[in-house]
Amino acid sequence: MTTLVIGAHGQIGQRLIKHLAASGDTPRAMIRSQEQAQTIKALGGEPVIADLEGDFSAALTGCDKVVFTAGSGGHTGADKTVLIDLWGAIKAVDAAKASGVKQFVMVSSRGAENPDAAPARIKHYTVCKHLADEHLIHSGLTYSILRPGRLTDEDATDQVRTDWPDSQEEQWVTRADVAAAIAHCLSSNATHQRIYPLFHGEQRVAEALA
Ligand SMILES: NC(=O)c1ccc[n+]([C@@H]2O[C@H](COP(=O)([O-])OP(=O)(O)OC[C@H]3O[C@@H](n4cnc5c(N)ncnc54)[C@H](OP(=O)(O)O)[C@@H]3O)[C@@H](O)[C@H]2O)c1
Repeated sequence: MTTLVIGAHGQIGQRLIKHLAASGDTPRAMIRSQEQAQTIKALGGEPVIADLEGDFSAALTGCDKVVFTAGSGGHTGADKTVLIDLWGAIKAVDAAKASGVKQFVMVSSRGAENPDAAPARIKHYTVCKHLADEHLIHSGLTYSILRPGRLTDEDATDQVRTDWPDSQEEQWVTRADVAAAIAHCLSSNATHQRIYPLFHGEQRVAEALA
């Protein structure tokens, strides 16, 4: 079983590569430059260099599963949000379908369920995430969609929830727990055709996503 991780050099991506490698897999890691390859190899991944803004279809050759955890990040403009978080994700879904991929795991975001409720400053981002999710849902692919809250860098807790906390302050989750949740989606059929809000909570990842 070969899994392609798109956005593998990112903060969730690196944690996921390490997590999958620790379970005996050699995930294929899509990265943007040769300088990133050493880090990926050290984590246990097999680097493949490709860019979501170009033709990256060759990176999917022979892959059974795809994880999309790329993102343009808060430091870029809305143009990059459209090109990466929306258009890049749509192209990834289409490429996965064309190459016969069996499962697609999307790292979406809280707010994607209802972009109109998002603060004006990030509404374009939640619209992009929403439309990318919708494209995946209607693609015919087997999918799992995670909609994490604000990401933090603490260690894995294996303590999450998939319902919404009452307060904004509680709407966070560690990147390590998101990586564990992605890995769980890749290994559990129960997560197929499911959309999960994801926050720090009181259930183990496997229980919360059951
Ligand atoms: N920040 C939050 O609080 C939050 C909350 C909910 C959901 N999310 C979502 O979580 C996901 C990942 O978060 P993160 O913290 O891991 O982000 P990150 O560290 O910024 O990683 C994003 C990755 O995407 C890659 N990327 C950007 N443009 C690309 C392109 N054109 N082609 C290929 N790869 C490209 C980056 O590559 P380089 O390493 O080369 O730059 C980077 O490795 C994103 O989808 C984000 O929208 C974030």
